[in-house]
Amino acid sequence: MENQTLQQNTPEKRKRVFSAIKPTGNPTLGNYLGAMKYWGKMHEEFDCFFAVADLHAITVAIEPKELRENCKRLFALLVAVGIDPERNVLFMQSHVPAHAELSWLLNNYTMFGEASRMTQFKDKSKKAPENVNVGLFDYPVLMAADILLYQADIVPVGEDQMQHVELCRTIATRFNNRYSPTFAMPEGRVPKFGARIHSLSDPTAKMGKSDGENDGSIFILDKPEDIMRKFKRAVTDSGREVKAADDKPGITNLLTIYAAACGVTLEQAENEFASSSYADFKLRVGEAAIEALRPVRERYEALRRDDGALSALMRSGAEKAGRIASRTLEKVYKKIGFVRL
Ligand code: TYM
Repeated sequence: MENQTLQQNTPEKRKRVFSAIKPTGNPTLGNYLGAMKYWGKMHEEFDCFFAVADLHAITVAIEPKELRENCKRLFALLVAVGIDPERNVLFMQSHVPAHAELSWLLNNYTMFGEASRMTQFKDKSKKAPENVNVGLFDYPVLMAADILLYQADIVPVGEDQMQHVELCRTIATRFNNRYSPTFAMPEGRVPKFGARIHSLSDPTAKMGKSDGENDGSIFILDKPEDIMRKFKRAVTDSGREVKAADDKPGITNLLTIYAAACGVTLEQAENEFASSSYADFKLRVGEAAIEALRPVRERYEALRRDDGALSALMRSGAEKAGRIASRTLEKVYKKIGFVRL
């Protein structure tokens, strides 16, 4: 009965969105411009589910204290970037046990060869050969469970996660064909601007959450003076023209950051800096990043002053997510043939 009521209350036309972010390292300007900034606006058009993917965080070694702090910080940051918990379902992945359960079930509909081909698995295995654990291998299946539990139509992600969304579609198709239509077919969506923000010190590498030491990453919670220092040191290219080009990865990255931070196109950004020197240009990009991040940091600081309030938000998010997730999970158990109580 409860299920029926819930279904009737779900507006038919609004599409579902699901996305998540891992609480590893320190969230960067790349995460913000490539993902979080858009998430905060999506509820106007879609029914949105956003999670802190804490279960995904333990595939690489992490200290308990660090994991705990990262989770609280990221949850508060998501609220601070504009994901209003009243208008979105915002929750911690591990607070909804259905994620781990569905992930086990989906393992049996995922081929070893398919998971072996994942670029991220290969990269991370190379980076930490001493800890190539089964969780790291299984990571995209858990991600598929995240998406499919909510019958998501749209999955906003940066380019680096598209391959995982494709695998999710493969798994969903296999399951739907083997039994009967069960999962909605999700579509990965990469933002037009900022889909791939690169490191400031090595513009051929992604701006990563764990690359703090070398000033290559701007963190969302960095102080303005640190942000400016990093931009001033940003690697540029030969030549003097501020123009996006394949042989100018440094300048292209800075233009991308500027365009995403100010909400203009790459071309508009190029025009603005047509007569600027590299040094002036870097300063202006730094200022744009500082201004984009300032309100986020201020809201974040206010939220972190009250741990109890943060826990209450987590609890209510988990309850809302859990209700929807358990509906899908129950369907899946039944279709496979489990005896249910
Ligand atoms: P994660 O935590 O690495 O990153 C979160 C989101 O930020 C995007 N992103 C970037 N975009 C542009 N430039 C960058 N330098 C940059 N770095 C990161 C990522 O593409 C991602 O969209 N496995 C996922 C989390 C996850 C998930 C899911 C995502 C778990 N379950 C289900 C979608 C659906 C991850 O590690 O993202």
